[in-house]
Parts: sequence; structure tokens; C-alpha cells
Amino acid sequence: MQTASFRRTLSSVMLGALAICQTAMGTPNTGSDTAREDVAKTPAARPDAPWWKEAVVYQVYPRSFNDTNGDGIGDLNGITAKLDYLKALGVDTIWLSPHFDSPNADNGYDIRDYRKVMSEFGDMDDFERLLAGMNKRGMRLIIDLVVNHSSDEHRWFVESRRSKDNPYRDYYTWRDGKDGAAPNNYPSFFGGSAWKKDEATGQYYLHYFAGKQPDLNWENPEVRAEVHDIMRFWLDKGVSGFRMDVIPFISKQDGLPDLPAQALAHPEFVYANGPRIHEYLQEMNREVLSRYDTMTVGEAFGITFEQAPLFTDARRHELNMIFHFDLVRLDRDGWRKKDWTLPELKATYARIDRTGGDHGWNTSFLGNHDNPRAVSHFGDDSPEWRAASAKALATMMLTQRATPFLYQGDELGMTNYPFRGLEDYDDVEVKGQWRDFVESGKVSADEYLAHLRQTSRDNARTPMQWSDAPNGGFTTGKPWLAVNPNYPQVNAASQVDDPGSIYHHYRRLLEVRRQTPALIHGQFRDLDPANPKVFAYTRTLDDKRYLVLINFTRETVAYDLPEGLKIAATLLDNGAAQESMQPGAASVTLQPWQATIYRL
Ligand code: NOJ
Ligand code: CA
Repeated sequence: MQTASFRRTLSSVMLGALAICQTAMGTPNTGSDTAREDVAKTPAARPDAPWWKEAVVYQVYPRSFNDTNGDGIGDLNGITAKLDYLKALGVDTIWLSPHFDSPNADNGYDIRDYRKVMSEFGDMDDFERLLAGMNKRGMRLIIDLVVNHSSDEHRWFVESRRSKDNPYRDYYTWRDGKDGAAPNNYPSFFGGSAWKKDEATGQYYLHYFAGKQPDLNWENPEVRAEVHDIMRFWLDKGVSGFRMDVIPFISKQDGLPDLPAQALAHPEFVYANGPRIHEYLQEMNREVLSRYDTMTVGEAFGITFEQAPLFTDARRHELNMIFHFDLVRLDRDGWRKKDWTLPELKATYARIDRTGGDHGWNTSFLGNHDNPRAVSHFGDDSPEWRAASAKALATMMLTQRATPFLYQGDELGMTNYPFRGLEDYDDVEVKGQWRDFVESGKVSADEYLAHLRQTSRDNARTPMQWSDAPNGGFTTGKPWLAVNPNYPQVNAASQVDDPGSIYHHYRRLLEVRRQTPALIHGQFRDLDPANPKVFAYTRTLDDKRYLVLINFTRETVAYDLPEGLKIAATLLDNGAAQESMQPGAASVTLQPWQATIYRL
């Protein structure tokens, strides 16, 4: 819950960290690497931008994408087999969620060997074939860098836990207990304490996520050098960058003091504000990133709007972009779902746009593997409005001044899963929350499950729906997680054949975006922030000006254009419009969930 009062309460905790950030802000890294300087010289609204500003990224969650050997688990060959589908859609970059060797306590976000491919997904030859297939099609690959923590089965941790004097001991954070309990009151995101006692030495190790995900100790220069080596290993293979998992968490608070009581429900604001985060990122940039032509995007959980430029201002030589979670968490308090309003959503977009400024750049996304399905979340997933609202959301997402990140299946309007009981969920987070909230008696099972149905990460992890064949064509075996039963109605095969489908609306939007620099680089302005039904904004670059109108309701809305604006032509509609606009029109009758891009 990132409310104003919550932020105020935490402000004293964060003040120290912020002071350090601001000092760093005033002394930009003026290293002599030319690639980075090119970026710094390229303000956001110029067409000679680096490739990653104009890229369109598609996130693949490999476990659920496409299974080619019938074991019920998606694999790398399955992605290679679908490259033409992605190319035809119009995406040019894939973000691959972790594909590394892992015992899968958290579906690959717990890595046992950073240089090996997860055996369920294939092997290095398969990876290289995937990359070659992408190169052939002019596509780029970015991979997940998960280095806040490793798996407890990584050989570093296997060594580290053996004895206090093991050479790998300092690769992780070990502390003595306090009064027979954990060293401090840090909670884990997956339930219980963030400390686990290890019998071999009687000390505790730190894990912000599951016990099987021990946090790496970035204070140790050897750990940082190992991470840099891993990055070079994959960049030398030809990947084009990284999505960095919970990257702000890598620097831990000095002395690891207890969290103040108010911070316990949202420890991310403290975990994300360690004193050396910007030092580590600048070092990583200097040692590795500046030597390659990369895209970097940080998962910036716990980072406020005010702090965002510290990561993304090109003059600071850290990351290209971060994911802001304020939009997808607009209606959330942890696992609880709250109401949201359109003016709140619009205000969030406007703030995200402002954080980009002239020297930074943003991401635009409405879902990923950690969030519910976009159409169920912000649209209307009833049979009548699912397609129109999914197209309206696509229009909004793809006309922001930011690099868009599509999540697999959203181009088909895939919906949340009709979960019934606890047994339908796979997610490690759900198991931990169940223990903390339901088994402890704090919350009733019914209440928890009612919220979870709408907020669970598993909503986005059900397999891709490729066709109306059994299991949606995802697998010929038993899928690792049940396929949404609506696959006969919602699947790729039928949409690829239907020019009026959600898939084709995405395809057309991506085409229009590619041909219209103003939709990528142009200034964003919300014309009507308080309107509870219509999102109306302009995108302006030099003398080119476009207007986007999106009706977020099931009603027809008569809309007078603000500020005396007049329509010159329609650029792209989502299929809902019933009237064709005459040049000079100053008002529009917006149909339910109509989303139209006009030229002014
Ligand atoms: C964020 C990832 O997106 C999520 O899936 C994972 O569980 C945590 N980080 C821990 O790696
Ligand atoms: Ca498989």
C-alpha cells in the first residue's frame, strides 16, 4: 500500500538512503565510454534514439509457453517453434523468464547453476538454436538476471553452509541469532521470517524470498565479480541485455537493524534502499554493460517515483529503465484487492511519464508473471466485453512514451483462471501466505481465497492457449498447471485467422507505432485527468499531434474534445467505433470500450 501516509511514516527510515542517492545524483559518472555517452546525449523526444527505446518486448514465461516433448512443461524448442508467430505479431525483443538450472522452488527464480540451461527446458544447444532463430528474424533476446539470491542448491551455498571458515561463507549473509530467535524482525515475502537457522553451524542465513532462495552478499567483491562474469558469459553468447530481478534489494542496510513496526507489512521500501545500491549498479555498468550494446530493465519493487531517476537517468550510467509497480498495484494491498478509479490510473500514468524526464526512459506494461491477467484486472473479462476491453487496454499500453512489455497471452485477451480452493494453486507465495494469514487465524480461508482469485500470480502462469485442441494445444501430456477452461473460445489459432481479433489489433497497433515516431517519443499530456469514464491524451512530436480517446465503460459516452481540439483523421480504432469522423469534428460519440487514435 503505497499511500501518502505510509510513505510519510517510512520517510525517516528512507532519509539516510535518499541522502546518499542525492549526493550520487549530483556527481554523475563521467567515465569515457562512448556507448553510454551516446545514450546520455539522446533526449527522450528524438528519433535517433537507441534501439531499446523503440523496441517492443514480449515476455515469455517458458514453463507455460509451449511444450514440444509432452512432459507438460514448456521448453526452449517450444519458443523456437513460435518465433514466426511472434514475428508476425510485430514484437522484436523477447524477455525470457529464467531458463537456468534450478530446483524450481520458485519456478526458476532460484538458480542452481547460472551457466546451465534448466533440463526441463532443454540444453545449451536448444538455447543457441533459439538465439540463432531470433537473430535470423532480426529479433533480440534479453534474459532474467536473478542475483539478489541464488538457490540453496547452488554450489556456493552448499559450500557456504558447511562451516564458518569455508571460503564461500561470505557469499551469503550469516548472523548469530538474538535471544534464541532470528537476528532481526525482517519478514520474508513468501511468509515467516527472512532468516533461517542452519543446523551445520547454528547460524542464520538471510532470505528475502523462500528459504530455498538465500540472499547473496553483495558486500563481498568476489560475489560482484562472479555476477559480472555470469553477465559476460551470456552477453558473449549474444543476448542483448537483462531484466534484473528485484535489483534494488542487492544492497542491504548497514547493521541490519529491526524494521520499525509500520514497515513490517511493506518491507520492500527498506529492502530497496540499501546504502550501496547505486555504487553496485554503476560498477556493473562500468565493468560489463558499458562494453556491450545492451537493454537493461530493473524490477524496481520498493522504489518510489522520486527515486526512479536515480536508476534510469542516463547521465548516471546505471540502468536504461525500471518497472514501476504503482500501476499494476494500484488496486492492491499485498494479496488484498482494492477498488481503483480511472482518475487514479491516469494520475499514475502521468507520474510515470514525468519520472522519465529528458534523460530517462520508462516501461509500459499491464501484466507479467507476478500479476493477474490484464483484461481481468483493468478491463472487463465478461464474454460480451472481453475482446473490446482487451483491445482498449492494448491501445493504452502501446501509446505511452515508454518501451512496451507485452506478457504472453495478453495479445489474445487471456483471462484470470476460475480458481476454487487452495489445491488449485501452485505458487510458493500462496503457500507461505496461507500459513501466515489463514493457519494463524488472522484471516478466514474464504476471505483470503476470495482476494487470491483476483490477485494470484498463478492467474498469469496458466499455459498459453494456442488452439482448441486438448489443453489448448500447449501440451500433449498433462500440463504442469491447469489450462484455463475457456481455451476453446480464447486461443491463438482462431485469432490469427480473424482480422477482427485482439491479436490483430495488437499487430496493427505495433505497425502504427513503428510508423509514427510521435507515438514512441512524443510528449504525453493527459487532457482530462478528472474524467471518470474517458482517458483522453495527446502525443506530440514537433508539428505532429495525435489524440488517444479510450472509453473505460460499458456505456456510450458523448465526448466533447477539450481545449477546442479538432480531429483531422482517424489513425486506428479498436473496432468499437460506429461513426467515421469527418475532418474538423470536435466531439465524438464513444461506444463502450472504444479506443481510437486520431490525428489532430
Ligand atoms: C520477482 C520475480 O518476478 C518473482 O517471480 C520472484 O518470485 C521474485 N522476484 C523472487 O525472485
Ligand atoms: Ca517440455
